[in-house]
Amino acid sequence: MKIANYELSSPLVAAPMAGFSGRAYREIVRDHGAGTAVTEMVSAQAICYGNQRTRELLDLEGEAGPRIVQLFASKPDFLREAAAVVKEIGADVIDLNMGCPVPKVVKNGEGSALLREPKLAAELVQAAASCGLPVSVKMRLGFAASDNIHVDFAKAMEAAGAAFITVHGRYREQFYAGQADWDKIAEVKQAVSIPVIGNGDIDSPATALKRLAGSGVDALMIGRATLGDPWLFGRIRAALGGEPEPELPSWDEVCATALRLLRRQRERFIYWRLLAGFEPARAEVEGEYMAVCSLRAQLGHFFRGWNGAAALRNQLNTLGSVAEIEALLASVGQPTRGR
Ligand SMILES: Cc1cc2nc3c(=O)[nH]c(=O)nc-3n(C[C@H](O)[C@H](O)[C@H](O)COP(=O)(O)O)c2cc1C
Repeated sequence: MKIANYELSSPLVAAPMAGFSGRAYREIVRDHGAGTAVTEMVSAQAICYGNQRTRELLDLEGEAGPRIVQLFASKPDFLREAAAVVKEIGADVIDLNMGCPVPKVVKNGEGSALLREPKLAAELVQAAASCGLPVSVKMRLGFAASDNIHVDFAKAMEAAGAAFITVHGRYREQFYAGQADWDKIAEVKQAVSIPVIGNGDIDSPATALKRLAGSGVDALMIGRATLGDPWLFGRIRAALGGEPEPELPSWDEVCATALRLLRRQRERFIYWRLLAGFEPARAEVEGEYMAVCSLRAQLGHFFRGWNGAAALRNQLNTLGSVAEIEALLASVGQPTRGR
């Protein structure tokens, strides 16, 4: 699949995940076989207000393309302005969030609330596109199953100018419960001419192959199963190429990758603080603390499936520096896989 003049190296896209899909995560999943990775959702309004923390979420400089920035908005004017800023920063594509189920977001008329406002959603696509970048839409199947809007909504986004659509095969009212409905994703694929990326519950090479073949989508988006397991992209890629499944990573490789994630994110947070004019010593301390706090949950995922994971996670949650985490991992020895 081609996105904004980039032929993806694989039809596998790492999902936007608030609090997880930061710069270091995106680099690591690309290195493990993802064709690209989407930033977490960023508020168009906060971009317009020049919020510093928001600016750090748009950490694109030097990142491999296509750089897809996901924005959420309900007001076309804010989105128009934010889109121009995001283009200036280096985005190749603006993805619009029309699936977030969180009550705070929905109450503002953003995220999945837009599934019931197709006219406004179309205006938002046009507002974002005014900056000249391709715009994509990430939607759910609908707000409630009884709305039955997935095909009409996707067609409306295509008519508004969306370059491609990602469909998460759940309704807003499900949040993350139940199973993604891939038959409905296939219905969207059949109804539109633009590329469709299917999303929901891909967690193994077998499900990936089944969903690709069964739905006819152009690419797969994968989220939760990649947390702590970027190797999943490599396993799926091998399956797509008819190659034997790569071996699961050793404990040493798991630790090295978890630490790479942590150290790289620390580097980025320090960089942002230096840029904001912090004294170097303060930038180091605060940048490191931010990296540790923001990555604790994600680091915990790397231990999934290893004996002693629960105890390790508990210890991890008490640590506040990279050196302490390095020491913890060095002290563990060689645990065995529990699955
Ligand atoms: C912790 C978390 C954060 C998420 N944040 C976002 C987000 O910022 N934007 C978005 O469109 N979807 C977000 N999602 C939804 C995922 O992108 C994806 O659609 C969903 O998890 C289903 O895919 P999966 O079964 O492969 O995880 C988030 C999901 C999780 C679990």
